[in-house]
Amino acid sequence: MDIKSIRADFPMLNGVTMQGKPLIYLDNGATTLKPQCVIDKVCEYLTTYSGNAHRGDYDLSHQVDQEFEHAREVVKDFINASTKDEIVWTSGTTDSLNMVAYGYALKHLQADDEILISVAEHASNTLPWFDVANQIGARVKYIPLDEYGCVTMENVEKAMTKNTKIISLALVTNVLGHHIPMKDICAYAHQHGIIVVGDGAQSVPHEVTDVQDLDVDFLAFSGHKMCGPTGIGVLYGKYDLLNKMNPTRLGGGSNTRYNSCGIVSLKKPPYRFESGTPHIEGAVGLGKACEYLQSIGLQEIYDYEQQLRAYAIEKLKTIDQVEIYNETSTGAIAFNIKGVFSQDGASLFNKYGIAVRAGQHCAKILDEYLGVNTTLRVSFYFYNTYEEIDQFIDVCKKGDDFLDAFF
Ligand SMILES: Cc1ncc(COP(=O)(O)O)c(C=O)c1O
Repeated sequence: MDIKSIRADFPMLNGVTMQGKPLIYLDNGATTLKPQCVIDKVCEYLTTYSGNAHRGDYDLSHQVDQEFEHAREVVKDFINASTKDEIVWTSGTTDSLNMVAYGYALKHLQADDEILISVAEHASNTLPWFDVANQIGARVKYIPLDEYGCVTMENVEKAMTKNTKIISLALVTNVLGHHIPMKDICAYAHQHGIIVVGDGAQSVPHEVTDVQDLDVDFLAFSGHKMCGPTGIGVLYGKYDLLNKMNPTRLGGGSNTRYNSCGIVSLKKPPYRFESGTPHIEGAVGLGKACEYLQSIGLQEIYDYEQQLRAYAIEKLKTIDQVEIYNETSTGAIAFNIKGVFSQDGASLFNKYGIAVRAGQHCAKILDEYLGVNTTLRVSFYFYNTYEEIDQFIDVCKKGDDFLDAFF
C-alpha cells in the first residue's frame, strides 16, 4: 500500500491540527475520515444535479435517479449481493437493525421465542431486541463468550434451543473486536430454521464481505465508518425475507397507490422501505466510498491493519502500566492505563493531538464480562501509520507520570 499517496487523499490528514499538533486519528471505530473523492461526489450532487430521487420527469431528476441507483449497484457489488433490490438505504447500522427488529421480528416471532445475542453487542444490536421481545413476550438470551471474549460455534450451538428464532451478532464487535464464525453460524442456524442477522458496522469497512458466501440473512452497516458520509447506511436482506418484512415507516415513495379507505399497495423491496426523500448525497457519497475502498483493495486494507495492530500490541505489551483486554482479536484495541480513569486518559492523548475513544463504547453490558467499567479504545484504518502508533505509544509510556502529565 502506498500510504503516502493514500494520506494525500484525506484533507483531514493534511494540515488539520488538534491542540496545535498534527491530528493523529485513532478513533476509526467511531467514524472514519473522508477522502477528497467522496467529498467531491457529495459536492457534485449538491452543486450540479441537486434534485429529488424517483420523483420527477425531467432531465435533472433522471440524472439523480441514475446516480442514486448506480450507488445501490456499487454497494451490491461491494458485498456481493445477488441483486441491487436487496440493498435498502437506511440512515446507518442502528436504523438497519431497528428495521429488522421492528419490521421482521415483531411480525414473525411469538411469545416464548428466543433471540440470541452476546454481551459484547453494541446498543443498537441489543436495545431493539429487548423492546421487541418485551412486546411479544419473547426472550433475549446470550451466547456466552469464551475466555478470550470470542463467540465460538460450540457456544452458539449450546445456547440454541428449539425456541431460538433469531441470532443477531456483530461480525466484529466494537470493543473486543473478535471475528465470529459467521459462515458456520449461518449454516448451522439455517438447518434449524433460524434467521441470522449480522451487524457489519465494524467488519464491512475493513475486509472483503461476501453475503452470498456467508449466507447471512440480513446485514447492517454504516457509510460513515467506511469513508462515506454520515446519515447513510445499508440494510442488506435476502430478497424473499425483505418481502416478508414490514416497513417501519410509511409515506411518499414507498407505495404504488392508496385510496381513501386506507387500502395501500406497497412497492416491491427495497423501495417499500424507503419512504420519504432519501439521503441522496449520502447514497452517492457511499457509492463513491465503496469504489475508493475497492481501488485500494479490501484484502490489502485488512492485511495492513492487522500489521498495524500487531505492531501496536507488541509495543503496548512492553509497558507495565498498560492493561490490554483483547490482545488476540483483530479489531479495535481495548485497554486501560492502570490507575487512570479512561476519560482522563483520553484527555491526555488529546493534549498530544491524538484522538482515542474512552468509555463504554455503547456496549454497556460488556463490563460484566470485562470486569472494568470503562476502557480506552484505539481503532485503526488503512491511512494510519507506524509513526502515528509510535507517538501514541510514547504517550502511553508516560506511565507513572501519566497523571502528573495530565494535571
Ligand atoms: C458494532 C456496531 N454496531 C452498531 C453501531 C451503530 O452504528 P451507527 O451509529 O452508525 O448507526 C456501531 C457504531 O459504533 C458499532 O460499532
